[in-house]
Amino acid sequence: MQYFKRYRMVCDLAQIVVDRVELPPGYVAVPWSEGLLERHANVKFHSFRNEIDSGVFPCLGDLYGCIRLMQEISTQGGFCPSATWLIVRENGTELQDCGTIQGLQTSGGLGSIQNVGVIPDSRQLGLGKALVKLAIGHFQELGLKEATLEVTASNQAALMLYHRLGFRIVRTMYRSVPQNEALL
Ligand SMILES: CC(C)(COP(=O)(O)OP(=O)(O)OC[C@H]1O[C@@H](n2cnc3c(N)ncnc32)[C@H](O)[C@@H]1OP(=O)(O)O)[C@@H](O)C(=O)NCCC(=O)NCCS
Repeated sequence: MQYFKRYRMVCDLAQIVVDRVELPPGYVAVPWSEGLLERHANVKFHSFRNEIDSGVFPCLGDLYGCIRLMQEISTQGGFCPSATWLIVRENGTELQDCGTIQGLQTSGGLGSIQNVGVIPDSRQLGLGKALVKLAIGHFQELGLKEATLEVTASNQAALMLYHRLGFRIVRTMYRSVPQNEALL
């Protein structure tokens, strides 16, 4: 078995002011519709496949695993279409999908953020922050008090992203993955 240290993080939605979500020139945020499922899965795959989380959740390192995951998320009772976004880059006539996020409302009434992913070429441009803000804005409209997510402790970029947005660590846990399933 391989063990991955993970954190649960939460943020108090009343303390966060989501100002206008700015994207770099050429990038647009596209709201969820069922026809976008495979595009979300494809961006998820390209965002996670060489990253630590594809060792923690091997399905993230496999396109069909990402399609199944998107099917599972989008058919759950708590799925929040309005907290689920795709970021697309318009480059002349070409469109490139660059980022994805999904939101769920838990049975305990929390807004849960799932699988924020930005493809390597589009990182450190503010897209990850924009995706989380879009989801948070919707949780606030729903009147939810807290947002929650889980992150692998060694994922510095993600930890920094969430920390900057006001998330704090509330719990440490370990996920075990059979050694032959972990890719990293
Ligand atoms: C984590 C991830 C979504 C961040 O996306 P991103 O678009 O590069 O992030 P942003 O450009 O919006 O940066 C947000 C903040 O995090 C910080 N940050 C981003 N990448 C960082 C890095 N590699 N190292 C340190 N800080 C980093 C930025 O400084 C920024 O803070 P600031 O605006 O206050 O300066 C992206 O790296 C990714 O997709 N990683 C692989 C998939 C993954 O692990 N997802 C998280 C699952 S929990």
